[in-house]
Amino acid sequence: GKVRAPTHVISTISDDRGEEPCYAGVPMSSIVEQGLGVGDVISLLWFKRSLPRYCTKFIEICVMLCADHGPCVSGAHNTIVTARAGKDLVSCLVSGLLTIGPRFGGAVDDAARYFKDAYDRGLTPYEFVESMKKKGIRVPGIGHRIKRGDNRDKRVELLQLFARTNFPSVKYMEYAVQVETYTLSKANNLVLNVDGAIGTLFLDLLAGSGMFTKQEIDEIVEIGYLNGLFVLARSIGLIGHTFDQKRLKQPLYRHPWEDVLYTK
Ligand code: ACO
Ligand code: LMR
Repeated sequence: GKVRAPTHVISTISDDRGEEPCYAGVPMSSIVEQGLGVGDVISLLWFKRSLPRYCTKFIEICVMLCADHGPCVSGAHNTIVTARAGKDLVSCLVSGLLTIGPRFGGAVDDAARYFKDAYDRGLTPYEFVESMKKKGIRVPGIGHRIKRGDNRDKRVELLQLFARTNFPSVKYMEYAVQVETYTLSKANNLVLNVDGAIGTLFLDLLAGSGMFTKQEIDEIVEIGYLNGLFVLARSIGLIGHTFDQKRLKQPLYRHPWEDVLYTK
C-alpha cells in the first residue's frame, strides 16, 4: 500500500493545491459567483462553515462599525506617531494593533467569557458585578473613556437593533443590558461598550444559529476568536491613518514638554 510521509504541518481551513484556492472546501469561483461577502469569507476561514446571511451580515456590521474611531484613540495615535517617524505601512499598522488589549478593543473575548459564565450560572447582575469587584477585576465590556449613560455609543445601539430584528434569541444581550443598568446606577461612565456588545451578541449568534454544538461554542470562547473581529476591523482604519499622515507629509512627532508633568 501507500506509505505516507509524516507531515510537520496540519491545516484544515484552506487548500490551494487544485485549480483554484478553496476556503473550507468552497472554491473561490463559487464564492464570487454567489456574490458572497467578507462576512462569508470570515465564516469559512474562522468557523469553517457557511453561516446564514443574518450572521454574516452581523459580522460585516461589526467590521464596518469598528473600522475606525478617530485619531485620538490608542491604536490610531500609535499608528500616527509611527507614520510620522517615517516608518513603512506594516510597521505603522502593527504599532497601532499592539495597543489592542484588555483596555482597548481587546476585551471582546473576556466579555464573552465572563458574561457567559455569569449568565449560565444564573447570577443576577448585582451578584455578577459585585463578585467581579471582590476579585478586583473590572468587568470586561463595561466602561468607556468618553461614552456615558446620557451619551451612549451609537455602535452598540446599531448592533443591538440589528440583533433584536434578526437574531432568533438575544438572551446574552438582554443580560448585558441588565448588567449595564446596574453598572450605570453606580457610575455614569459604566456603559456597555462596543467590546461588550460584540462579545455578548456573538454568544447569541453562536447559540441561536443552531450551527454550533455546545462544545464548539465553549472552544470558540475559550480559544478567544472574537478579539479577531476588532483587530481585523481596526486594521482598516489604521491603514487609513498611515496613508493620511504620509499624504499630509507630517513631520516627526514630538510630544510637547508642557503636556508632561516632570516630577521626582
Ligand atoms: N468594571 C467595573 N468598574 C469599572 C470598570 C469596569 N469595566 N471600568 C471602570 N470602572 C470603575 C472602577 O471603579 C474604576 O476605578 P479603579 O481604577 O479603581 O478600578 C473607576 O470606574 C474609574 O474608572 P475610569 O478611570 O473612569 O476608567 P477609564 O476611563 O480609565 O477606563 C476603560 C475606561 C479602560 C474602558 C475601563 O472602563 C475598563 O477597563 N473597562 C473594561 C475593559 C473594556 O471593556 N475595554 C474596552 C473598551 S471599548 C474599546 O476600547 C473599543
Ligand atoms: C474605539 O473604538 O477606538 C473607542 O471606543 C475607544 C475610545 O477610547 O474612544
